[in-house]
Amino acid sequence: MEGHLAFAAIILGFLLFVLRARKSRDRAALPPGPFQWPLIGCLPSFPFHQRHRGFLELSKKFGPIVTMPIGSSKIFLVHGKDLAMEVLRFKDAQFSSRPLSMTGKYIGFEHSDPNLCPLNENWRVVRKAFSNELMAPSRLSSQAWLRREEVLKTVDSLLGITGHGRDWASVDVRKIAEGVVGRIIMRMLFGDHYLGKNIDNPDAERITRELEREFEKYLAEGNFLWGELNLADYFPALGIFDLQGLEGRFKRLMSKLEPLFTMIIQEHRKNTVMIQDEKGKDVIDVLLQNQLSDKQIMGILSDALLPGIGTTAAAVEWAMAELASNPHTLSRAQQELDSVVGRSRLMDESAIPSLPYLQAIAKEVLRLHPSAPLDDPHLNEEESSLGGYAIPAKSTIFVNLWALGRDDRLWSDASRFDPDRFLGTEIGVHGSHFELLPFSSGRRRCPAHALAMIKLQHIVGALVHGFDWSSAGAVDLIEGDGIIAGPRTPLRLRARRRLDDEAY
Ligand code: HEM
Repeated sequence: MEGHLAFAAIILGFLLFVLRARKSRDRAALPPGPFQWPLIGCLPSFPFHQRHRGFLELSKKFGPIVTMPIGSSKIFLVHGKDLAMEVLRFKDAQFSSRPLSMTGKYIGFEHSDPNLCPLNENWRVVRKAFSNELMAPSRLSSQAWLRREEVLKTVDSLLGITGHGRDWASVDVRKIAEGVVGRIIMRMLFGDHYLGKNIDNPDAERITRELEREFEKYLAEGNFLWGELNLADYFPALGIFDLQGLEGRFKRLMSKLEPLFTMIIQEHRKNTVMIQDEKGKDVIDVLLQNQLSDKQIMGILSDALLPGIGTTAAAVEWAMAELASNPHTLSRAQQELDSVVGRSRLMDESAIPSLPYLQAIAKEVLRLHPSAPLDDPHLNEEESSLGGYAIPAKSTIFVNLWALGRDDRLWSDASRFDPDRFLGTEIGVHGSHFELLPFSSGRRRCPAHALAMIKLQHIVGALVHGFDWSSAGAVDLIEGDGIIAGPRTPLRLRARRRLDDEAY
């Protein structure tokens, strides 16, 4: 009897051993990656500058998914069309949250904004308000006059620089791009009331004027802080020391923006009841009517002002940089504009559907220079897998959107600026063609993609229709640092007017 029991125990033990061995063999391995140091993980291999380029180099060494933990964060770098599709389409529901971060705490008003908020009820509310109110097609088309007015003002200010003769003058293109995009977004958000006119409140007037005057500075600072590798996010115990001085800078930046937002919301609260008709309402009126809290409204304003302006302005600057470097393309765009719109009036956005070459230029600019090259970080709450590898719960995923546009397997002569590649194709930028994802795809796709494309094509169209452009030397086509990658060197070009006098 004892002999039988011993025999059964040996058999059972053997079966358990086989089962466990099979289970651990079936469990997918983690993706490969650089050497992991105790406590700090892959921090020494982490690229601090032009991160999208550094990540591509790491993927050439380790494969399309790279494990890159830092401190307490599990980070994975994702490259290639198939994996982008797996993250953003097939497993979109699993990978659509966001990691908590110091940027979300300050710029996102305690993660109340659409961009930095994890996938939760708050996100659903603010994303819906952002898409349905701020970006509603009816609102966008009813505000065409506002964009037109701002583009015309920009052309006027350029005439102030170039003069009314036919001489060349030097132009700070970044300033022009940030100025026009910034004014359009601010007017969309705050209405005319808050741009230095009709303000009863002297504090509001002072702060609004300061915002207008100092906006470039805030934009640059917001972009820097948003994109910086903040050690406190990865080593929470170090947070109290603020070793990089970033928390202090976040607080200073928000001490400029928050009082303005608070004041504007308060003013709107007072005024909403007095507004009788729909036409008088701006975005904040509508958000207040939707019962959004002050924090949620401030989060929406913050997203629209910081990444919203910077991304579109960077795309305009890249377009002008590429056109100045490719005079043949510039002159083809001008010929198209002259033949569709003529030379006696300046183009506006109603002409865009009849300008296929201009549309192809915009796509080609976003292929080579997506303004958010690394996508925003995605996070999976539950354990999952990608490309056959295990991805533990609460991992941060970076999809390299910039590398997709430069992938030789997807594009012929990938590094060449060649808008012709889009003529006669259906390839679009709005998230269903996974070789071209400047606005990403899935539920976290940029909710402002339609507005961004209208502005990009309208502003670039008006600049190249109204003026000739040339560069004094070679243009720097390498990206700078930050979450938004504009050209590393602010673009300066020479311009001169080119249309008939009555067009301006
Ligand atoms: C050329 C211009 C732009 C580009 C290339 C761009 C690109 C992107 C990208 C790549 C994302 C991340 C999507 C993801 O996580 O998968 C994003 C998100 C977002 N963008 Fe844009 N964007 C542009 C313009 C704008 C503008 C003008 C606004 C606002 C006025 C805006 C507001 C947002 C918001 C709120 C999100 C967060 C969406 C969410 O997490 O649910 N973007 N954008």
